[in-house]
Formats: sequence, structure tokens, C-alpha cells
Amino acid sequence: MMGVKLSSILTVILIILHGLTSAAAALPEAVEAATSLRSNTTYYNPILPGFHPDPSCIFLKEWDNTFFCASSSFNAFPGIPLHASKDLRNWKLIGHALNRNEQLPRLAETNRSTSGIWAATLRYHKGTFYVITTLVDDDRPPKDASRWDNIIFKSKDPYTPSAWSIATHFSFEGYDPDLFWDVGADGKEKTYVTGAHAWHVDPGIWQAEADLEKGTVGELKLVWKGTGGTAPEGPHIYKKDGWYYLLAAEGGTGLEHMVTISRSKNINGPFEQNPANPVLTNTNTTSYFQTIGHSDLFQDHAGNWWAVALSTRGGPEYLHFPMVRETVLTPVTWKQGEWPVFSPIRGEMSGWDMGKEDRGIKGVGPFVDDADDIDFAKLTRLPEHFTHWRYPIPSSYTLSPPSHPGTLRLTPSVFNLTALTGNYAGPTGQTFVGRRQSHTLFTYIVDLEFSGTVAEEEVGVSAFLTQNHHIDLGVVVLPIADGTLQPHLRYRAISYIPVPEPIVVSFPVEWKGYDTGKLALEIRAINSSHYAFSAGPTGARSLRRTIATVSNEGVSWGFTGVLLGVYSTTNGGAGSAPAYISKWKYVPEGQFRD
Ligand SMILES: *[C@@H]1O[C@H](CO)[C@@H](O)[C@H](O)[C@H]1NC(C)=O
Ligand SMILES: *[C@@H]1O[C@H](CO)[C@@H](O)[C@H](O)[C@H]1NC(C)=O
Ligand SMILES: *[C@@H]1O[C@H](CO)[C@@H](O)[C@H](O)[C@H]1NC(C)=O
Ligand SMILES: *[C@@H]1O[C@H](CO)[C@@H](O)[C@H](O)[C@H]1NC(C)=O
Ligand SMILES: *[C@@H]1O[C@H](CO)[C@@H](O)[C@H](O)[C@H]1NC(C)=O
Repeated sequence: MMGVKLSSILTVILIILHGLTSAAAALPEAVEAATSLRSNTTYYNPILPGFHPDPSCIFLKEWDNTFFCASSSFNAFPGIPLHASKDLRNWKLIGHALNRNEQLPRLAETNRSTSGIWAATLRYHKGTFYVITTLVDDDRPPKDASRWDNIIFKSKDPYTPSAWSIATHFSFEGYDPDLFWDVGADGKEKTYVTGAHAWHVDPGIWQAEADLEKGTVGELKLVWKGTGGTAPEGPHIYKKDGWYYLLAAEGGTGLEHMVTISRSKNINGPFEQNPANPVLTNTNTTSYFQTIGHSDLFQDHAGNWWAVALSTRGGPEYLHFPMVRETVLTPVTWKQGEWPVFSPIRGEMSGWDMGKEDRGIKGVGPFVDDADDIDFAKLTRLPEHFTHWRYPIPSSYTLSPPSHPGTLRLTPSVFNLTALTGNYAGPTGQTFVGRRQSHTLFTYIVDLEFSGTVAEEEVGVSAFLTQNHHIDLGVVVLPIADGTLQPHLRYRAISYIPVPEPIVVSFPVEWKGYDTGKLALEIRAINSSHYAFSAGPTGARSLRRTIATVSNEGVSWGFTGVLLGVYSTTNGGAGSAPAYISKWKYVPEGQFRD
């Protein structure tokens, strides 16, 4: 085998050399032959498991042959995660484009779980990285211009979060903006913003020339209505072989989601559609990977094309998918002058040769599959992948306070994870920090120290999707029959679908003699459909008790994805006791791909 392969490669090299010396036109074919003779790379979807929807990716030779991807983050903060890879298999979190309150103060005020940062487009132009996106305030009427806050962030160094600029705002009454630079017939460079118009009588993809420095856009033109699917959105423009290609998502982000494409000789249309549309979808299939759509295309170092898209694991039953919309990758064959052909999305994929694995990526965050075994004693700031819901109140999170070195101190918020309106927590915020669920099966466990004495003071762990979809297990101070206050264990969930009633129990009698001011709280995915919530004295594994086993259906919904984390609240009461978190562990235990 090896001998055959080597001799074929030698032959190809000879052909290339021959091509170089005699007929230059033979070169592309020779390179194509060389590519197809090399072995394909096996990789696994999703490439960015967990809450990573609406991916947009680029490949940059000038940045050490690295792929960069952005995904949308809604109300999560830090927002707009950025991942990098050198081999399309190992992806590292390198930071977030939205990492400081001053960049976009309005994220503090978004109301509704579907608000916040919608799809971003990541692009690179003349040495600058651009993230263009929309802060949506979904609580406002569609025609209220303030509902659609379109913004651009810029950076010259994606590895340094603080290098990202504050937002430049521009007016566009829609979402999913794309950025494209083109040199017109007059030789002048023009910048185009293309996006989905939110409320126009003609739903479709709209485009305008833009001045990114001033944040101004010219007259909007409808360039494509799509193929007839609902909600044409998520557009991206590419120029190839004299054609402008317009990629879009249609069908909505549920089971009918699909990727469609059209093309034109002119940037502003008319765009004619590909007879083979949709070019990528799993609608009407029994695949475990559903809702595939919202794609972006890019080329690797060898010029081969790839596409990312979002997908939901859980099959057409569409009941159990707590990681909700994740990023998947597929190879694309795109011959000169022809339409791109996408390979169908599966769990195990074979794509263009990407060589050996390469984990040599700098950047502040972990790889997407990493476990957590966090010793707060070693940290001076929270890890990059730790996530809040909207902006945190910095003083509510203290690393290694003098009285409790090696812990994370949480100061309770008045509001719990639901808060009063279920969508908004106001300026007092919510004390919560989590990480994405990124595996089908996992154990998440923390030790917590808490000595609350005031009614409704609570600290606990949560499988948190949004303020109106979360499942919690907490230690909460409640009265017993004689009216005295005691810590209890309380499981409580909230969702748009019926969820099991709260369970409130006193500490089990077997825990007597143990320091119940220090407990380990655990969330475990016991299978693809259920979480078990357990608690016990720290260091006494055999005394850990499962308080509730709950379906994940209640947190399988919407735009975001489950965060596993800790919260601290007074539930509107008069308490103020802090909680001290230590031994934060997330242990991956299995990834279901079909
Ligand atoms: C948030 O939205 C809910 C429901 O749309 C509304 O009842 C509530 O008044 C809003 N709160 C704020 C602070 O805007
Ligand atoms: C899926 O099935 C429905 C009902 O048969 C059909 O209308 C629709 O066109 C199909 N979608 C695709 C992308 O095949
Ligand atoms: C390698 O992957 C590409 C892209 O999916 C495909 O077109 C090609 O047939 C594959 N080659 C082999 C040998 O499997
Ligand atoms: C706490 O949570 C409950 C149930 O989710 C909710 O009804 C209540 O309004 C919340 N209270 C506060 C103060 O956030
Ligand atoms: C997961 O475990 C729960 C509790 O034992 C059980 O009811 C459920 O059917 C299981 N789900 C699957 C997919 O096996």
C-alpha cells in the first residue's frame, strides 16, 4: 500500500514539475490530481459542540495557516466566541469579540431570551478582523428601528480579547448582516452589507453599500427573495470565477432549516437560483443531525472548499437536544464556473486531506472537548469559557477572598435565575456563572460552602438554557414545622413545557456527623434524555443522594444551549450570605453522533 502511494505521489510531483516547465495551464489539473490521491481526513461533527450557533469562519494563510470561527451568543457574556484551528479537528477558544461592557452597554438591557447577539459574520480585510452582527431587542415591535441594533467590531489581533474595538453602529432594520468588499468597474473598492430585512413586505435578502468607518449605509435593495422557504436569512456573498454567489438560510431555524444559493454576474443582482437547491439540509431525513442551515463557505490552504453550518443533535423527534444549535463542518466540491456541492452532514465525516493533527494554537481558552478541573487558587481571572447571562456585576465574583483562599466567592443577587419577568433581571443582575454543556454525557460537580440563615437564601447548580428554561438544585434556607429556619435541598425547574414539580427535602439523616456547610452538588447526564441532580457531603461519595432525575426536554428549545453553572440568590429576601465554590469539575463522558 505504502509503496503504491509513494510512487503515485512521485508521479504527481513529476507531472507538476513537467507542468511547471512546459504547459502552465496543466497546473490546476495536476494539483487537483495530487489532492485526490492523498488520503482523506476523518473528523467528527459537531466541530464546536454545545451552544455555538450561526457559525461564520475564515481561513488565513497570513495568520499561520489558521481557521477562525465566530458564533452567536444571544444574552450570554462574554459574547461572540471565537475559535481557532489549524487542522479543522482541534478547535480552541481564543477569546470573545464582545468582552467588555463598554463595547456595547445595551446588552445589559435586552429583554427576552431570544434577544441579544444574533448571527455574526467574521471577515478579514487588509489586516483587520471584522465581526458584523445585530444586537436584537426582541421585546420591541419589528418596525421599531431600535429593535435592530446593527454593529461592527474590529480587531488587528484575534488572540487578544481587549484588542476588539467598541461597537460601530449602523442603521439597518434587519439582522444577519454580511460584509463583502469588491472593486467596482471604476477601480474603486466598495463595501457591501447584505442582510435579512426584518419586516419588509418583501421578505428576503437586502443589500446596501456601506461606509464602515462612519457607520452609514446607502439605499437598501432587495437582491434575492430566496426559493420560497420561510425567513430567508443568514446571507453571505462570495466572488468566484466571475460570479457573485449569494448563500442563504431558509425555512426557519427548526426542522425545515436549509441552505440555498443563487448567483449573479452583478453584485446587486438579479440573482438566479441554483436548480439543485437546497444545497444542504437534513429536513425529511431520520438523521440524528437536524435543523441544518445557516452556512458559511471558506477555502483551506490547498484551496479546497469547506462549509460550516448549525445543526441540532436529537433526530427528527426533536425532543431531547439540550446543546441546541451546534457548529458542524462539511467538505464542499466547487468546480470552476459550477455550483458548489455540499456533502451531507453526518457524525463521522471524510473530507479533504488536512494532514496531521496540530494542537499548536495560541489563545486564552480551552479546546472545545476539554474537561474542567479548576483550582481557583491558581487563577487571577475567571477562565475564558466561563459565561454569564448578560453583564456580570464584577464584585459578585471574587477569586480567593482572604477568608477562603482557593475558592470563588459568589455574592447573591436579589433575583434568582428566573427573576421577576422571566426575561430580564434589570441592573441588579443575576449571580450566575457557567460553562457550555459540550458532551451528550458528562458529570459537572462543584464543592460549595454556604452558611446562610435567612429565609430563601440559596446557592446551587443549574442546567441553564434561558431565564425561563432552567433546572436547578440548590441549598436553600426554609422554615421547618416549628418555624425555625434550616438549610434544605430544593430542586426546581421552569420551562415552557410542563416540568416536574419542585422537590424540597431536609438533609438526609445519614449526613449527621458530617459538615453540611460544605456540600458537593452534581449534575450528570445519565443518558441522552435525562439529567440527575445529586448532593452530598464533600469527600463522602457514598453519601451522595440523587434528589431529582429530570428530562432535558424542558431545556431543549430555542436559540441558545445549556450552560452548566452555579448561582447564588436571596430570592428577593433579606439575605446576603456569600457562597464559596471550589473543585469545579466538568468530566466529558460521551458524545452521541448518531
Ligand atoms: C420585558 O418583557 C416582558 C414581556 O415581553 C414585559 O412584560 C416586561 O415589562 C419587560 N420588562 C422590561 C424591563 O422591559
Ligand atoms: C420535505 O417534505 C415536504 C412534505 O413532503 C415537502 O413539501 C418538502 O419540499 C420537503 N423538503 C425538502 C427539502 O425535501
Ligand atoms: C475525499 O473527500 C472529498 C470531499 O468530500 C470527496 O469528494 C472525495 O471523493 C473523497 N476522496 C476519497 C478517496 O474518499
Ligand atoms: C425566583 O424564581 C421563581 C420561580 O422560578 C420566580 O417565580 C420568582 O419570581 C423568582 N424570584 C426572584 C426574586 O427572582
Ligand atoms: C434515561 O434514563 C431515564 C431514567 O432512568 C429513563 O426514564 C429514560 O427512558 C432514559 N432515556 C434513554 C434515551 O435511554
